[in-house]
Amino acid sequence: MKARAIAHPNIALIKYWGKRNISLNLPAVSSLSLTLDQFQTETLVEWGSERDRLFLNGSEIQSNEAKRAFQFLDRLDPDRPPCRIVSHNNFPTAAGLASSSSAFAALALAASKASGQSHTETELSILARQGSGSAARSLSGGWVVWNRGIQPNGQDSYGRCIAPPDHWDVRMLVAVVSAGRKSVGSTQGMIRSKETSPFYQNWVDTSEKDVQEAIQAVQKKDLHQLGALMEHSTIKMHAVMMTSRPTIRYWKPQSLAIIEAVEALRNRGIPCYQTMDAGPNVKILCSAEHAEEIASELSRITHPIHILQAGSDAKIIH
Ligand code: DP6
Repeated sequence: MKARAIAHPNIALIKYWGKRNISLNLPAVSSLSLTLDQFQTETLVEWGSERDRLFLNGSEIQSNEAKRAFQFLDRLDPDRPPCRIVSHNNFPTAAGLASSSSAFAALALAASKASGQSHTETELSILARQGSGSAARSLSGGWVVWNRGIQPNGQDSYGRCIAPPDHWDVRMLVAVVSAGRKSVGSTQGMIRSKETSPFYQNWVDTSEKDVQEAIQAVQKKDLHQLGALMEHSTIKMHAVMMTSRPTIRYWKPQSLAIIEAVEALRNRGIPCYQTMDAGPNVKILCSAEHAEEIASELSRITHPIHILQAGSDAKIIH
């Protein structure tokens, strides 16, 4: 049997960094994200083929990435037949643009359908989370909270939509500084931070309050409050990364130039707020009315600048 699914990446406003259980990808902190439109992963799963084969963006992959994908399918069915996975991203892979979030959300949905099983959105989120934590937030469109949960088996740790895509007409700009692969993978980085950063525990202790306040800001459509919380969560996460040993620094000079330009725009009365993940690219949250002006200002520093809106749920396509 075959099934094809698409999922959109999400960008965290309040960040996930650190795990309470590595093999289940149970997070040390809750997080809040916005699912994006335009960028997407499309994945075909053929359940029952001659052997396990993974094709990503037109090339066959035999590295650890393939192992990770097929081990993920084993979670769905330990007695599964060999499978073929064919996946395409229409945006840079593994560059801190959240490609693993859409990859595992699309894979979970396509594989569940192809295997003939039927899962609820919550069950799919729990499954996708085990492939990559942030994928738990990409089954749903719009504004999504991923609760850290407390159960050892992770059944209470999944993404839940708190507001649909049309709740609030914001834009997320993606300023691409580098489309190359990230220097330190998220899982390795999180393990290193937990073991070595003197700020890690403080990060964990202060994150839940950030999520609760950010949920209120989304509900009230308060861009200033949400933007300030997003920048604070971002800087705290990068402080934990940078104070890990050896240090993890994803920022490039151009990233900092964009951060300064965002501050300068704000000082001129244009509300916009920046965030960064495990890579040098910068994302900017702003209202729809200011998006073009901000993009044109930032394009003096780098390009392309993508202007994205809130995206929809992951879905099966025919
Ligand atoms: C910095 O979901 O890529 O983007 O669970 O190890 O696969 P794994 O990590 P991943 O981590 C994303 C971390 C982040 C922040 C975020 O998206 O919340």
